[in-house]
Amino acid sequence: MSKLWGGRFTKPTDKLVEEFTASIGFDQKLAVDDIRGSLAHVKMLGACGIIPQEDANKIRQGLMTILEDVKAGTLTYTVENEDIHMNIEKYLIDRIGPVGGKLHTGRSRNDQVATDMHLYLRRETKQIVALLADLLQALVDTAEKYIDVVIPGYTHLQRAQPVLFAHHLLAYVGMFSRDAERLQDALKRIDILPLGAGALAGTTFPIDRKLVAKELGFSRIYDNSMDAVSDRDFILEFLSDASILMMHLSRFCEELVLWSSTEFGFVELDDAYCTGSSIMPQKKNPDVAELIRGKSGRVYGNLFGLLTVLKSLPLAYNKDLQEDKEGMFDTVETVKGSLALFAGMIRTMEVRKERLAKAVKEDFSNATDLADYLVRKGLPFRQAHEVIGKLVLYCVSHGKYLADLTLEEYLEHSSLFEADVYHVIDIQTVVDARNVHGGTGSEQVKKALEKAKEDTARL
Ligand code: ARG
Repeated sequence: MSKLWGGRFTKPTDKLVEEFTASIGFDQKLAVDDIRGSLAHVKMLGACGIIPQEDANKIRQGLMTILEDVKAGTLTYTVENEDIHMNIEKYLIDRIGPVGGKLHTGRSRNDQVATDMHLYLRRETKQIVALLADLLQALVDTAEKYIDVVIPGYTHLQRAQPVLFAHHLLAYVGMFSRDAERLQDALKRIDILPLGAGALAGTTFPIDRKLVAKELGFSRIYDNSMDAVSDRDFILEFLSDASILMMHLSRFCEELVLWSSTEFGFVELDDAYCTGSSIMPQKKNPDVAELIRGKSGRVYGNLFGLLTVLKSLPLAYNKDLQEDKEGMFDTVETVKGSLALFAGMIRTMEVRKERLAKAVKEDFSNATDLADYLVRKGLPFRQAHEVIGKLVLYCVSHGKYLADLTLEEYLEHSSLFEADVYHVIDIQTVVDARNVHGGTGSEQVKKALEKAKEDTARL
C-alpha cells in the first residue's frame, strides 16, 4: 500500500516498524475532533483563496460522509496508514479523488495532532467539571439530609473532637470545588489553537489562523509556531489537576472503607456498590471505594509518564510526543468513571445514626471543652490542660467517661468545677460551641451549607 509520504522512499516500511510506530490503535479516539479540525481548516483555505472554493466544498462534503461513518462506527482503520490523521486523509482521497490531497495544504500533522488534542481535552475537561458539579450536589444533599448527625472527628486516627457529619462532608465539598476551579483554570490553557503552526515554522500560504480559531471556538491562538507543536503543558496541567482530584477521591474512599467496616460501622454502603466473596458467604466488600482508591495510582503514573517523556525533548516535534495520548485517554476515562460511581455511592449510602450517636458518647472527645471551661473560670490554659489530663487518666483507670463522673469527683481535681460542667461536656454543646467561621457549630455549618448550595448551582 502506498504511503501518503512515500515519495522519498524506495523500500516499503518494515512490518514491525509499521506496527511499532503506528498510533491508530489508540488515537482513533480523536476521529471526530480530527474531522472537525479539518473542516475548519478547509473552510479557511477556501475563504482565503488558497484553494478554489469549489475544491473546498468537495473536501467538506467528503469529510462529512466520513464523519457520518465515524459516528456510525463503520470505518475500519489500518496500521499501514499509521495514525488517525492519515487514515482519514486516505479515506478522503479514496472517496473524492486527488482533490482530497489539497486538504493538507498549509498544514502539518504536527499542528494537526496538537489541535486534535486541544479539542478533545477541552470537551472532556468540561464533562469532568460537570461530573464534579454532580458529585458536589450529591454531597450537599447528603449533608442536608443528615444535618443533625454528629460523628467523631479524628487526628492521627484517634478520637479528637466531635463534628457534624455535614461538616465532614463539607470539607470534601471544599476540596472538590477547588478541583473544579483548577480544571476550569486549566481550560484557559487548553483553549489555545495550535493549527497554523505547520510542521514547526509556520507556513508559506496566506492562512487566517484567527478564522480557524473562531470556527473551532478557541479564544486564543499560539503566538509561537515551535511552542504550538512541541509543548504538551496543557495535558500535564490536566493530569496534575486529575491527580489531585483522584487523591481527594482516594482519601474519601479510604474513609468509606473504614466507616463501612464492622469496627466503625458508621455507614452502610448500598448493595449495588459492593461485591461478595467467592468463598466467604458473609462478605460484603466495598470494592468500588477500594478500586477508586487504587485507580489514583494509574493517574499519578500517567502524570509522571508524560513529565518523563517531555523532559529532554529538543524543540520542536519529536515522535516521542505520540506517547502523550494513552495516559491522557486513560486518565479521562478513569476520572469520569470514578466520579460517576462515587456520586452514586454517596447518594445511596446509609448513615447509621444510632451507631454514631453511641460512638460519640464513648470517648473523651469533650475533654478540650472541659479545659476551656476551666480557662473561662480563670485558670491559664496550660494548667487547665494538666488538670483535665489527670481527670482523663482517673476516668481511664476507673472505667468511666467524663459524663459519668460525680460532681465530687470533679471537685477532687479542681475546686473551680460547678454543676454546669455537665452541660458543657454534652456532645451537642461541644459541637455548637465551635461557632466560628469554618467551625463545626450548627449555625456555621448551616451557613456553609447554604453557600455550598449556591456555589454548586453556579458551577
Ligand atoms: N501520530 C502522531 C502523533 O501522535 C502524529 C504526528 C506525526 N507527525 C510526524 N511528524 N510524524 O504524534
